[in-house]
Amino acid sequence: MNYFSSPKINKIQEIIKKYLNKIPLVKNKSSLIKNTLFDAFESEEFLLIYKSFAKEVATQFYGSPYKTCLQTSPTPRIFFPNSHGTSIHSDYWYGHGLSAVTIWIPILNSISGATFYADHKKVIQNNIHSSTFSLDDLKRISEEITKKDNEVLPPKNSAFLFDSTTLHGSTFNSTQKTRISFDFRISKIEDKTSTKDLDNYLIYDEHIDQYNLPSHKLYGKRILKYICGGNNKNTFAQQILIDSFSKRYNLQITDQEAEIERYGYPILEGLSSGYKLKNEYDAIVIASEYIAHEFFSNKRYKDSKIPIWSALENKQIL
Ligand SMILES: [Fe+2]
Repeated sequence: MNYFSSPKINKIQEIIKKYLNKIPLVKNKSSLIKNTLFDAFESEEFLLIYKSFAKEVATQFYGSPYKTCLQTSPTPRIFFPNSHGTSIHSDYWYGHGLSAVTIWIPILNSISGATFYADHKKVIQNNIHSSTFSLDDLKRISEEITKKDNEVLPPKNSAFLFDSTTLHGSTFNSTQKTRISFDFRISKIEDKTSTKDLDNYLIYDEHIDQYNLPSHKLYGKRILKYICGGNNKNTFAQQILIDSFSKRYNLQITDQEAEIERYGYPILEGLSSGYKLKNEYDAIVIASEYIAHEFFSNKRYKDSKIPIWSALENKQIL
């Protein structure tokens, strides 16, 4: 097994355990556990050591962290007793590129029966390039991978590293303990085999020798939040999407405008043709292209005087 040892792992584990202290690791507290883990991942002390540990891994895996990117926030895993975990898969199946490496860090109860399995010797036939892939393959792989030799049990101060084609998964927790762990990915930025949006990654910046969130094209701009009601257009979800998008990229929403939906898209039409409402804006952010699908598919409006961005697709529509 490819275990990676570093004194930083112990420090990372201590930070997370401090957050989880006094929380019972039981199923009806699963939201609290998850939210607490997210709080820990957002904390200054965690982020500092997370980024420096990632640099250490990238240096060993690629020779240097140059032109690599790091998952913005790790993915927490909570594996309760007598329950099923993540189905067997390789990260490549889910869009990660061939250059990606996954780092799995145990926090609590990563013991035999509660940990996960990895086909570290790559002996299972996994049909990665096959167009005949079916869920029967999943069943076969799940059965083949479940053997003692494939259990991931990192020694003290160690993490488990695996590439994106390695099959892995948590089949069933047969112990009475809840396992807590987290994982994250590092990848090359110019990986053509990846389908991931690089805007969701921290990029290694050689000038400051650290992973850093690159500034968004809308950073520092005056932004108008645009909401549109109507059938099958949930305004609550639109608000959440735009707010989270703005928070992630540190964007400033100056004002908010709602569409006069009874008359089509007069607000969007006016703004895109240069009509001024309350203030001057540099961009409009909309939840998704779908929200004003009829407007965007109308050839009359193929240009806009002010850029219109979609939060969901993270792209400029017009
Ligand atoms: Fe995975």
